[in-house]
Amino acid sequence: MENLTNVVSGDFLEEDKHEYSLRPQSFREYVGQDEMKENLSVFIASARKRKEPLDHVLLYGPPGLGKTTMANIIAREMACAFRSTSGPVIEKQGDLAAILTSLEPNQVLFIDEIHRMNRVIEEVLYSAMEDYSLDIMIGQGPSARTIKLDLPRFTLIGATTRSGLLSTPLRERFGIPLHFDFYEPGELKEIIVRSAGVLDVQIFDESALEIGRRSRGTPRIANRLLKRARDFADMRTDGVITMEIVDETLSRLGIDDFGLDKLDRKLLQQIIEIHDGGPVGLNTIAATVSEEGDTIEEVVEPFLLKSGMIRRTPRGRVVTEKGYQHMKNYESHAAS
Ligand SMILES: Nc1ncnc2c1ncn2[C@@H]1O[C@H](COP(=O)(O)OP(=O)(O)OP(=O)(O)O)[C@@H](O)[C@H]1O
Ligand SMILES: [Mg+2]
Repeated sequence: MENLTNVVSGDFLEEDKHEYSLRPQSFREYVGQDEMKENLSVFIASARKRKEPLDHVLLYGPPGLGKTTMANIIAREMACAFRSTSGPVIEKQGDLAAILTSLEPNQVLFIDEIHRMNRVIEEVLYSAMEDYSLDIMIGQGPSARTIKLDLPRFTLIGATTRSGLLSTPLRERFGIPLHFDFYEPGELKEIIVRSAGVLDVQIFDESALEIGRRSRGTPRIANRLLKRARDFADMRTDGVITMEIVDETLSRLGIDDFGLDKLDRKLLQQIIEIHDGGPVGLNTIAATVSEEGDTIEEVVEPFLLKSGMIRRTPRGRVVTEKGYQHMKNYESHAAS
């Protein structure tokens, strides 16, 4: 049996390795984020005209909203080489220095999960980003000295789900910070229709909109639910995704009318039942629902906050009237 909470979390799963085929390759295919795309187009055109690299870009927002996809598209639009690494795999200052010194001029270096890079290693980036140079320490003890190495001019693109965890000096060195917010149902519908075309499955417009409405504002989840609906459709309706198929698929996966999954509801229910609706601290909630605090903060909470089911107060999280109402409706629906 598939792990149901995983199906609907925005987190990256093994199965998503195939998502490159669903990944938009250009601004035109990339749905939504219009203001971001328009601004970037101007910055990119201008940089290309000056034959300079694009200024450093920071992409931040919840998982599955298209940060990695956007980084790839930027490199493609800049017509430059793309090199990708991630914060936790860089273990020593030397690892990062080796990557930086091997870059080609104007290349894009993408560092995913940049908030998980070690602080000491991160310092190497300060001078690299600011004046394309690297201070390297040679030798040890009294004879140690530093030499300055010039680097090719490059663009750093950092991606993070937790920009609050970046140190201020690092954050301030990004000339183009871009925030990703959840998508509207209509935009997700467009993504689903496009993906259905790529996967060669037939889907009604209203079915695509319904999946879009129940995907927690997240393209990765929308694509995943589309694939599951396709699986059920293959068995039932010669592959056509009807409204009935969508309903059956989502209810089997434990996704309710609003798109909340089991973990979302468990969190609401526990705050209501055990903590009288709050306020309750994040770590206490995490312990109550037996999840990592990070998962709650990065994956679960942002959508509940955005949709007004919970609220943040100085003393902790509180379930709102809307959250109470949702759980009441869900329970009476489940009982009938
Ligand atoms: N704007 C979009 N238009 C169309 N498809 C999109 C868009 N954004 C994301 N997707 C789809 O969702 C998938 C997940 O996006 P992506 O991997 O870029 O998210 P991410 O923000 O990097 O997530 P994470 O924080 O987990 O790394 C992509 O493979 C793509 O198929
Ligand atoms: Mg990513």
